[in-house]
Parts: sequence; C-alpha cells; structure tokens
Amino acid sequence: MYRQIIYCSRLKYAYGVKDVYTILKKSRVKNASLGVSGFLLYKDNHFLQVIEGFNGSVSNLFRIIQDDLRHEEVKLITNDRTRLLQFENWYMGYSSLIDDISLEISEYLSSIGQRDVFDPFKIQPSEVRKLFSLFSNAIHNSSEVIV
Ligand SMILES: Cc1cc2nc3c(=O)[nH]c(=O)nc-3n(C[C@H](O)[C@H](O)[C@H](O)COP(=O)(O)O)c2cc1C
Repeated sequence: MYRQIIYCSRLKYAYGVKDVYTILKKSRVKNASLGVSGFLLYKDNHFLQVIEGFNGSVSNLFRIIQDDLRHEEVKLITNDRTRLLQFENWYMGYSSLIDDISLEISEYLSSIGQRDVFDPFKIQPSEVRKLFSLFSNAIHNSSEVIV
C-alpha cells in the first residue's frame, strides 16, 4: 500500500513565481531519490499539491513541506492509503493552470468556480480528487505537454 496526501497552501508575500520554479527543480531531484511522485498546481499565489509513494517517505516529506517558510496556511485536504500511484514516474508534474491545460480541465475548473481566480481553500475534497484525476488522465493519454 502507498500513501497519497493532497494539501493546499498560500505562497508567502515575499516570494514569487521564480521561487516556485526553484522549489520545483529541487523537488524533482529529491522526489526521484525518495521515490515520491505527484503533481503541483500553482496559480494566484496558491498551491495545490498531491504527493504519493511509500507511507514513510510521503509522511516525512509532508512534515518537511509543512514547515517550509516560503508558504503558509498549509491545509491538509486528503490523506489516503492507496494501491495505485496516480502520477507514477512523475517526480513532480507542474501546471500553472493557464495555457498548459486541456479544454476538459479548463471546463472543469469553470464548473467548480476556479477558472478565473484559483483558490483551492474553497474546493471540496471530492472536486480536488476529480481535478487530479483529470491531470493524471492527461498525462497518461497523450501528446498534451505538461512540464
Ligand atoms: C509548496 C511547496 C511544495 C514543495 N514540494 C516539495 C516536494 O515535492 N519535494 C521536496 O523534496 N520538497 C518540496 N518542497 C520543499 C521542502 O519544503 C524542503 O524545502 C525541501 O524538501 C528541503 O530539501 P533539503 O533538506 O534536501 O534541502 C516544497 C516546498 C513548498 C513550499
């Protein structure tokens, strides 16, 4: 069994998108060594991230992320045991939810009131799961490019 954790948070005022890319770059190296996969969404100063892998690795990493001073108001949304890795071999997928998403994802964001301004604190856990399953499908399907 694996563990999958989804949380959201807010980037602290002093930081910007450049810092997000720095976090992403470092995370990809470290996650690969830990065997942790996942996906990070960042828009309008908000993060929504899924991390998954072996129980201990994911729980430890989440504790470290929670203490990271570059973001605040870390809110745990889901914490599940699972047999399936949704983002296997993606040591941290990334989307800025702007021009790198499919029509299906764009329409889903609209339907949950998240298309114009992204505020994951207002998204229900079931909607968050659905959103990440759309990203997982997009990754597995196709030629769609998600960096
Ligand atoms: C929103 C956010 C997401 C992060 N995601 C990850 C991640 O997936 N993997 C990771 O190793 N670090 C992640 N970090 C960074 C960790 O908090 C921490 O800085 C890093 O793991 C420290 O690594 P080091 O001790 O090897 O320097 C994230 C930080 C933030 C603010």
